[in-house]
Amino acid sequence: MRSYAKSIALYEKTKKHLAGGVSSNVRYSSTPVPLFFARGEGARLYDVDGNVHIDYVLGNGPAILGHAPKPVIDAVAASLGEGQLFAAQHPRETELAERLCRLLPGAEVVRFATSGTEAVLMALRLARAFTGRDKILKFEGHYHGWSDQAYISARPPLNEAGPADAPVPVAGSPGIPASVLGDTVVAGWNDLDLLSRALDRHKGEIACVIMEPVMVNGGAIPPRPGYLEGVRDLCRAHGALFVCDEVITGFRVGLGGAQARFRISADLSIYAKAVAAGFPLAMVAGRRDVMDALLDKGVMHGGTYNGNVQSMAAALAALDVLERDGGAIYRTMEARGKQLMAGLAALGAKHKIALRVQGMPTIFQTFFTKGPAPNNYRESVACDRDMALAFHTALQEEGVRVNQQTKWFLSAAHDEPIIAETLAAADCAMAMLARH
Ligand SMILES: Cc1ncc(COP(=O)(O)O)c(C=O)c1O
Repeated sequence: MRSYAKSIALYEKTKKHLAGGVSSNVRYSSTPVPLFFARGEGARLYDVDGNVHIDYVLGNGPAILGHAPKPVIDAVAASLGEGQLFAAQHPRETELAERLCRLLPGAEVVRFATSGTEAVLMALRLARAFTGRDKILKFEGHYHGWSDQAYISARPPLNEAGPADAPVPVAGSPGIPASVLGDTVVAGWNDLDLLSRALDRHKGEIACVIMEPVMVNGGAIPPRPGYLEGVRDLCRAHGALFVCDEVITGFRVGLGGAQARFRISADLSIYAKAVAAGFPLAMVAGRRDVMDALLDKGVMHGGTYNGNVQSMAAALAALDVLERDGGAIYRTMEARGKQLMAGLAALGAKHKIALRVQGMPTIFQTFFTKGPAPNNYRESVACDRDMALAFHTALQEEGVRVNQQTKWFLSAAHDEPIIAETLAAADCAMAMLARH
C-alpha cells in the first residue's frame, strides 16, 4: 500500500491557514486527501511522500507538453528579467494575437484574459451587449467556470434538475443569487430537437447559446454527427450568437481545437489551458463585429494580469512546438491516445468489467456501464460512479493518476513506454476491481 502520510499531515497543517486546505474546490476530488506534489517532469508527478504518478490529470488539461516542458520553461525564464506587467501593451501580445488569428477558426480578433472563468464572462457580456438580449442558453453538464452566471446546471443532482426535455436551471453553489437563474435557460445537449424547442419557448430572448463542443466536464462525449452545424443554424435562425467554450478542447484535440476538427466556426470562442502549456492565459476569439464592441460600445473587460509577459512568452514557445511540422505532435498524441483507449477497452473485456472508453484520443473517459456509451449528461451520471471511484483509487495505488470520474488527459510526454507502463498498471487495477 502506498503511504500518503506526509500529504495527510500537510493537509491538516494547511487547513489551519488556507481556507479548506486547498486553493480550488476541484482539488477535493483526490484520495485520501488533496495530495501534495513536490514536482512534475514530463508525464510524471512526484508527491511529497515519494510516490511517483504517471499523470493523466495534467493540471486539469493545460500541460499538453507534459510537466515543465523545456522549450516553454526556457522561454519564460529568458523573459523574467524583462518585467511582468506594465499596465500597457508590449510587442509579444501583437505577435501572439496574430498567430492565434491565423490558427483558430472564426478568429478575426482575440482578447486576452487570465482564466477561463473570466474569459467566459467576457463572452457572455459581449453577446448580451451585441444582441441587446439578457438570457443565456447553456447545456446540462457543461462547465463554464465557477462564476454566478456560469456555474448553473454544471452537475445538477437529477432530483432537482426537472424533466430531460425542459430542465430547470440549478445553481451549482450556495451564494449564487436566484436572479441569475431567471436569465439562464438550460437544455439537454446533443439533441437538436430539445434545443429547437427551448429556443422557441424563449423566442427573441436568447443572447447566446454556449457549449463545450465536446462535452468534457459532464463526461467526455463527442457531439453527434451534424449536431454542431445544427446548433449553429438554429442560433442564426433565432438571432442568438453561438459561443464555443474550447477551454479544454482548444489546442488539445488539435491545433484549431474542436471547431477545426468538426469543420465549424462559432461566433465567439473561449480558449485557455493548453494554449500556454501550464501558464495562466485565456482568451475570447471571434467575430470582429462582435468583439469591436469592446472599443466601439465601451463593453467593459479588464484584468491586471491580462497579457502578462510570461504568459505571452509561454504561449509563443508552446505554439512553436505545437505548430512544428504541420502539427505533427498532434498526430503522435492521437496515435498514442487511440492505443491507450483500445488497450483499456481490451482490459475491460479481459477482466469481464462492463466498460466503455469514449471521447477524443487526447481527452477521454472510462465509463462503467453495461449499456452503450453515454450521449449526454443524464446518461453519463447513470453510469456506475462507485466503480469509477474504485478504479481511480486502484490506479493511484498502481502509480497512475486520473481524476475521480476517470478522465484521461494525454500530453506529448506520454510516449510509448509510458503508455505500456500505464496499461500494465491498469491491468492490475482492473484485476483488483474484478476480485471485489
Ligand atoms: C470548459 C471549461 N470552461 C471554463 C473553465 C474555467 O476555466 P478556469 O478554471 O481557468 O477559470 C473550465 C475549467 O476547467 C472548463 O473546463
